[in-house]
Amino acid sequence: MPMDDVAQFDQGFADLDVTTDILPIKRSGNPISTKKKKKPITATPILHFLSTQSFASPFDINMAVDAGYKVVVPHTGVRLNDTQALVQDAIFSRPPEHGCRTAIFIGGKDALMALDMLTVAKTSLVPPFQLSALADPGGSFTTAAAMVACVESVYQKKTSRTLDGASVAVFGATGVVGFASAVIAARSGADVKVVSHIGLAALEPLVSAAKKRFGVTLKPVLGGRDSDKGKIVANADVVLCAAAAGVQVLKAKHFEKSKRTVVIADVNAVPPAGIEGVELFDFGRPIGKRGLLSVGPLAIGDIKYKTQAGLLRSMLRTDQSLMLDFNDAFAVARQLVRKKAR
Ligand SMILES: NC(=O)c1ccc[n+]([C@@H]2O[C@H](COP(=O)([O-])OP(=O)(O)OC[C@H]3O[C@@H](n4cnc5c(N)ncnc54)[C@H](OP(=O)(O)O)[C@@H]3O)[C@@H](O)[C@H]2O)c1
Repeated sequence: MPMDDVAQFDQGFADLDVTTDILPIKRSGNPISTKKKKKPITATPILHFLSTQSFASPFDINMAVDAGYKVVVPHTGVRLNDTQALVQDAIFSRPPEHGCRTAIFIGGKDALMALDMLTVAKTSLVPPFQLSALADPGGSFTTAAAMVACVESVYQKKTSRTLDGASVAVFGATGVVGFASAVIAARSGADVKVVSHIGLAALEPLVSAAKKRFGVTLKPVLGGRDSDKGKIVANADVVLCAAAAGVQVLKAKHFEKSKRTVVIADVNAVPPAGIEGVELFDFGRPIGKRGLLSVGPLAIGDIKYKTQAGLLRSMLRTDQSLMLDFNDAFAVARQLVRKKAR
C-alpha cells in the first residue's frame, strides 16, 4: 500500500473511537465496581488467540500487536470443548479489575464454530472475573462487514435505496467470507442467493444455520456453468464475489444480459480478479458497457483493516466485558464507510 494511503488510513482511524462512537455494545456482565477512586489500569494487555486450525494467522497476530496488545499467545487446534477451560484459566489468573486487559481472539476457518466458541466464552465468565472476546475466523466477519458496508454505500448513492429488498447474489458462499457476507446482507433486508460452483449439498448446512441462528432465509443456487452464472447475475441488483484467492469466477460476458445489476464487488486480491474488470482500489468506479459500479478488494481491505483494528482496540479501551461478532463489525464498517464517502 502506498505510504500516502497508509497515512490517510491512520488519520481516518485516529478520529474514531469505536467504543464510544459506534458500537451498540453488548456488554456481558457488569462493569467492574469499585468504591475507590478509579486508577488507570496499567496491567499488561494480553490477547489469547484461540485458533481451531493448526496455526494462528500471522495477519491477526500482527493486527493485535499493532492495536496495542503487548502479549499475544496463540493456542492452536482449539476445540469448542476447550473454550470454557481456557477462558476460566485466563480470568482467574488476574485480579478482576485487570480483566479488561485480557482478551480472547477467536480465529480459525469455521464461522459457526467461532460463534459457538464466542457464546461459550460469554457463558464461562464468572463475574466479577471477566475478559472480552472478538470472533473473526479467517478475517471473515470483518471482511464481510467491510464488503457489505462498501456495497451498501455505493448502491445507495446510485439508487437512493438501501439493501432492504435488493436482490443480492453471493458467489463463493460456502467459504467463511461468503457465508458471513450473505448473512449480513440478509439481515440488512436483502433477498440473498448463495451460490456454489460444486453443488447445493455444500450450501444446505449453511442455509439451515442462517435460518436457525439468525432468522434469515438464504436461497441456495448452483452456479458452476456459464449459463447458470449469466442467469443468476441477470436477476441480481448486487453481485458479491467471495471465492477462493486467484480464481476468476465471473467474466464480463456473464454480465452481458444483465440489465438489473448495479454494483459488483470482489474480495479476492490475488490475480486474476474474482470478477473480470474489477480493480484493487475500485470504490464505485463504473466498468464495462453498462457502467456496473465496481468495488475492489483493497477498498474493502481498507475498511476491513480499520474495522478489525477498531474492534481490537475497543476491547482495550473499556472497563467492561465486550463480546464482539459480525454484527459489531458491520456497525463499525458502516461508520467507517460513511466517513470515507463524505
Ligand atoms: N480483501 C480482503 O480484505 C480480504 C480479507 C480476507 C479474505 N479475502 C479473500 O476473500 C476470499 C474468500 O475467503 P475464504 O477464506 O472464505 O475463501 P475460501 O474458503 O478459500 O473459498 C471460498 C469459496 O470459493 C469457492 N471456490 C473455490 N474454487 C472455486 C472455483 N474454481 N470457482 C468458483 N468458486 C470457487 C468455494 O465455494 P464453492 O466450491 O461452494 O463454489 C469456496 O468455498 C478469498 O479470495 C480471500 O483471499 C479478502
